[in-house]
Amino acid sequence: MPFRRDDLQNAYLAYKEFMHRKRREHHERYIFPFFAGSYFAYRKIDVMRVMTIGKSISQAPSYVDIGCGYGDFLTKIRQFVPNAIGIEEDTGIFYRIQKHLPDYIYSSTITDWFGKRSFDLSFVGWMEPGVDFRKTVSKSSKCIITTFDTGGQCGIDGECEYDEFGFQKIAWWRTPSWIDVNFELMNRFYTSSLRTEVNKREELAKLRTANNLWHIYTLPEISDKVRAGLKCWLKKEQDESLYSTQFFDFETILDECGFHYMETLPTFLGYQLWEIRFD
Ligand SMILES: C[S@@+](CC[C@H](N)C(=O)[O-])C[C@H]1O[C@@H](n2cnc3c(N)ncnc32)[C@H](O)[C@@H]1O
Repeated sequence: MPFRRDDLQNAYLAYKEFMHRKRREHHERYIFPFFAGSYFAYRKIDVMRVMTIGKSISQAPSYVDIGCGYGDFLTKIRQFVPNAIGIEEDTGIFYRIQKHLPDYIYSSTITDWFGKRSFDLSFVGWMEPGVDFRKTVSKSSKCIITTFDTGGQCGIDGECEYDEFGFQKIAWWRTPSWIDVNFELMNRFYTSSLRTEVNKREELAKLRTANNLWHIYTLPEISDKVRAGLKCWLKKEQDESLYSTQFFDFETILDECGFHYMETLPTFLGYQLWEIRFD
């Protein structure tokens, strides 16, 4: 379901106003994720993991981001998978804010597009409440990566799983959603009563959450090869401390807000952020 035209317009005006008086670098990503970021707070290692998964299926994987919005994550993926495309139901969002619609983002719904083409990797970062396109995606994909917030975004009855469509979940990891980071930024910089109350801010920081789950599903016949590719990458990621040498500028905000690579949050004892668990 597309955003309502006037809601989008009002949000865009608020975003423009924020950018006009902004003093802090990258905050807009986590305050206006639709215009300036994404609905999940990723690092470059997430992009590299997704790229590794794609390349373990094919040297030049076919890749689609379903419901890509303005294509923030997609453009990062295209640095490694240049022929990656996005499909976006409402490309009117580009015209409404006078933004150029790139030729790799197609104006379409999933049902119009799938069936005509199949993909090595389909990235599903969003499914509207009441919508369930899992069956359609399953028919035309070898691997499906989902990034869903545990708080919602999962279609009918919160179903995000692909096991019932013949896929195997081979791995998962947890990252913050934009709203986790947004709360931290609001408490630290935009709530005047909290700016000076360090103790209270520290108490609130203990309630930090990281609600975004990345699930990797593959068809059974490629699960061993994708799992092996991801394990090989993980070793490299850890041995070479890639998170500290390969990063996007905006990741400083994640560190500043206490969402470090491999951080354990009090709300999720036993799990580290970005830790990959294999199933
Ligand atoms: C909340 S935005 C998320 C954008 C981006 N994936 C992100 O995480 O920042 C969801 C987008 O999915 C699009 N969308 C929803 N259902 C869709 C469908 N069935 N086919 C294609 N696009 C869809 C909406 O128009 C909207 O732009």
